[in-house]
Amino acid sequence: MTSQFTITTAIDYTNAGPHIGHAYEKILADVIARFQRLRQREVLFITGVDQHGQKVKQAAEKQGISSQEFADSVTLKFTALWDALEISYERWAATTDPIHKRVVSKILQRLYEAGDLYKSTHSGFYSIRQEQFLTDKDRNEAGDFGPEWGEVIFLEEDNWYFRLTSHLPWLLRFVERHPEFVLPGFRQAELINAIQRGGQDLCISRPKSRLSWGIELPFDSEFVTYVWFDALINYISFAGYLADDPQEEKKFWDRWPALHVIGKDIMVPAHAIYWPIMLHAMAFSDEQIPRLLVHGWWNCKGMKVSKSLGNAVDPVQLASQYGSSALRYYFVRDIATGQDADFSEERLVMLYNSELANGVGNLLNRVLNMTHRYLGGTIRSECEFPEGNTLARENRSLVEQYFTYMEAFEINLAIETINKIATHSNAFIEKCAPWLLAKDPAQKERLENVLRVLCESVWLIANLLAPILPRESAAMLRQLNTKPFSFTERNMFLPLPLEVGQPTPVFPRIESEKSN
Ligand code: MSP
Repeated sequence: MTSQFTITTAIDYTNAGPHIGHAYEKILADVIARFQRLRQREVLFITGVDQHGQKVKQAAEKQGISSQEFADSVTLKFTALWDALEISYERWAATTDPIHKRVVSKILQRLYEAGDLYKSTHSGFYSIRQEQFLTDKDRNEAGDFGPEWGEVIFLEEDNWYFRLTSHLPWLLRFVERHPEFVLPGFRQAELINAIQRGGQDLCISRPKSRLSWGIELPFDSEFVTYVWFDALINYISFAGYLADDPQEEKKFWDRWPALHVIGKDIMVPAHAIYWPIMLHAMAFSDEQIPRLLVHGWWNCKGMKVSKSLGNAVDPVQLASQYGSSALRYYFVRDIATGQDADFSEERLVMLYNSELANGVGNLLNRVLNMTHRYLGGTIRSECEFPEGNTLARENRSLVEQYFTYMEAFEINLAIETINKIATHSNAFIEKCAPWLLAKDPAQKERLENVLRVLCESVWLIANLLAPILPRESAAMLRQLNTKPFSFTERNMFLPLPLEVGQPTPVFPRIESEKSN
């Protein structure tokens, strides 16, 4: 394992504010980044906004302000939400940043000089909404371009093209030899099909006469760069590639390749075809091609989340109503990484109340209270009894499972292992009835053993929650009055003696009409 870990998310369009899909992706990446930091890896977590393109220009025009002003105002909505959700990114990738523009320009110039770009005339139908020329393959069964393309016009224009097709044979070989390139693995077949279908060279420019809101081509000032070509480069421009400072450029190569966390809609063609081919053309070796973690979609009542359908749930409103922790928990708890899920406020409240308030929160509270009441707040003894040993052993095996799942980005399964520790421990309290043991002086050692193992359960849960709910994890460790365990050494024995603090609720129940 190298000590560096670079993780990025897709950069979000700034033609409208954040929705729950954006929030999920940032939380997923944040949980992975925090886990890797706990594993002592030097993490570079980059997220940001995609500010160029037709959609931003049109939205700005509607409001009668400049494209930059508009993009900046929408950007603030994203950064405010990421702050509220405690998204711990190291670098903010905004594509209007001069650092990024300079790198895009340098790359274009190099590809141009290497003969990878050429100018050509193209005429055909063009979708303004999707910002692309359409082919007959894009027509529906009735032979029309469906409503998903928005307004479609006929255009004839000169543009610059990137020799994408000449690299497709390389890509096919690469994908076949590197099944780990896309995660989860079931996406590989879909990608291979797409590559085998072939395609056309990629148009990487837009004439300024039609769109001025973009990065000018360094070798032809009549054109700006196509928004996807510009946007993909953010992954390297903000990680130090071609940085003016040679130290920073050197660091880039130590940190690279990254893990890109993206949604399934932008795997093909952008991330799994254009991007590796762009990097390959820039002379990145096969080992320097990043990996893609492709997540599924949050839907609403089985339908795509969309403002126009009126079913969009506002994550800002959710965070203020239920708290950012409830949201962080729900978004990684109720979806399997790679699969779709259906958003439900009822489930958000139900899972928080049953698993966190009643499960973990109640356990913390009971265990600390009993330790105070029956042992004066101090656990000293390491004495052992079979029941306690069984629970302690089961806990350790659940912790191992947690690590396996977290390393495979299967956060929902990792959370299930945490909840199992809580459920088993709550059941153990009922079975051992410490309140009865406390009445019998002959059971003193057994009582100490029961409470030690229970404190150990709470301590393990507090540690394992750290990447998912950092605030609550820290609060639990403070109440236990103990240190976190090391995610690298994984010594799972509770440090003794332990003098526990006073319990205060960490997961107050959400009282809402949704919980009835
Ligand atoms: N700007 C491009 C990405 C460029 S990356 C070089 C883009 N932006 S987006 O705002 O439309 O989407 C940003 C991310 O949110 C994408 O990864 C997308 O898959 C994800 N999601 C958008 N809607 C989603 C859901 N309903 N559910 C989960 N994630 C989804 O594409």
